[in-house]
Amino acid sequence: MSTLIERIRSHAAVVGIIGQGYVGLPLALVFEAAGFRVHGFDVDPTKVQALNQGKSYIKHIGSERIGAAVQRGRFTATTDFDRLRDCDVILICVPTPLGRHREPDLSFIQRTAHAIATRLRPGQLVVLESTTYPGTTEEEVQPILETAGLRCPEDFLLAFSPEREDPGNSRFNTKTIPKVVGGVNPASTEAAVALYAAAVDQVVPVSSARVAESCKLLENVYRSINIALVNELKMTFDRMGIDIWEVIEAAKTKPFGFTAFSPGPGLGGHCIPLDPFYLAWKAAEHGIWTRFIELAGEINTAMPRWVTDKVMHALNADGKSLRGARILVLGLSYKENIDDDRESPSYEIIELLQEAGAQVDYCDPYFPLARPGRKHDIGLRSVPCTAEVFGTYDALVVATPHAQFKDPALYRGVPLVVDTRNIVREGPEGPKRLVKA
Ligand SMILES: NC(=O)c1ccc[n+]([C@@H]2O[C@H](COP(=O)([O-])OP(=O)(O)OC[C@H]3O[C@@H](n4cnc5c(N)ncnc54)[C@H](O)[C@@H]3O)[C@@H](O)[C@H]2O)c1
Repeated sequence: MSTLIERIRSHAAVVGIIGQGYVGLPLALVFEAAGFRVHGFDVDPTKVQALNQGKSYIKHIGSERIGAAVQRGRFTATTDFDRLRDCDVILICVPTPLGRHREPDLSFIQRTAHAIATRLRPGQLVVLESTTYPGTTEEEVQPILETAGLRCPEDFLLAFSPEREDPGNSRFNTKTIPKVVGGVNPASTEAAVALYAAAVDQVVPVSSARVAESCKLLENVYRSINIALVNELKMTFDRMGIDIWEVIEAAKTKPFGFTAFSPGPGLGGHCIPLDPFYLAWKAAEHGIWTRFIELAGEINTAMPRWVTDKVMHALNADGKSLRGARILVLGLSYKENIDDDRESPSYEIIELLQEAGAQVDYCDPYFPLARPGRKHDIGLRSVPCTAEVFGTYDALVVATPHAQFKDPALYRGVPLVVDTRNIVREGPEGPKRLVKA
């Protein structure tokens, strides 16, 4: 395996990255920028075609970065998995969703592992990056890779390194976020550490793939639980007539021992709503019930209904009913200024309002058309983001704090704004009525 490490250190190694989504694409660009030849593999031919034409399909990843990588001749995208044989290193960045009963769906990882196994050759390093429960790399991926007769670490190497992508974050990026790496054996850790050290600023080796898998879950469970905590406190303080946002601002002045989390309309994105349940599922196998995870899930998933109840009560106070009311939901993205609507609570809010008989539209500059997802298909088109349009609705629900929604002039004279993100202000220039939810 010394040849592999030499090829990595001299940047002669070819890096294959399976899955060119929110995680795999930026990773491909970081390895390319570090001087490696990179093959981006994906099953979606439209993505592969776009990449080879230097076009981005993710808004915060500029086409110019992809175009430059393609022009330098070091980055190509492909659907041809036989080209895995050309790669010295194979990184797996495929989805890890939940099944219908909130159980881990490892089918993408398993399919990918089989695709690698039939082409695996001695001297390759495989690294799983998809978020998953502790033990997946060793218990699920390794046996599949070994079906063709090669063994780890004698013939090939295998590690886990969690992705810590934060789309839209302008302070940190794939290169500057420290990379935790753990192999299924020491030789695998050594090779994987050498690989990432050649492309990112800081590598954090840990003793095993299980520790690396668990590290990612700790990070996401921590977020999920803290978000649930502020959501619960939001509802509690609301009943007492206290504004949670003002409380958080005050608490933030404590220079130690407090990290601020924001309440909101519910969890969204590919990670926080899903990953904790991977751990909960695996823990049950060991006879452990992860009560914090379940409780946080219960509180966070109840948020969309809490928001729609707020809309109903606020309309009621004006002598209006939800049935027949015209309501505009602002934002489909699960967080601000990105075009990612996966698991977004906006969809559930829209459906709950519709179920109650409201006429619902949405406005989101990132989604001119609402595309059908795994769980939702609202079949709507964004209305324009103007004060004239906003003024025609009985109520607005601020679900996403996009920069475009922060112009106070948009809300002047609107009868009712229910704001889940604390971006709308009261006053003579503001809406007629503002309710925080
Ligand atoms: N998005 C994030 O911010 C983020 C952050 C940290 C970790 N993660 C984790 O990274 C993993 C990938 O997430 P993502 O956000 O990049 O997902 P994504 O849906 O954006 O991208 C996955 C890509 O894999 C492709 N794909 C699906 N099946 C494939 C297969 N069998 N072979 C090749 N390609 C295949 C899809 O076409 C898609 O382009 C998940 O495990 C996720 O939990 C995501």
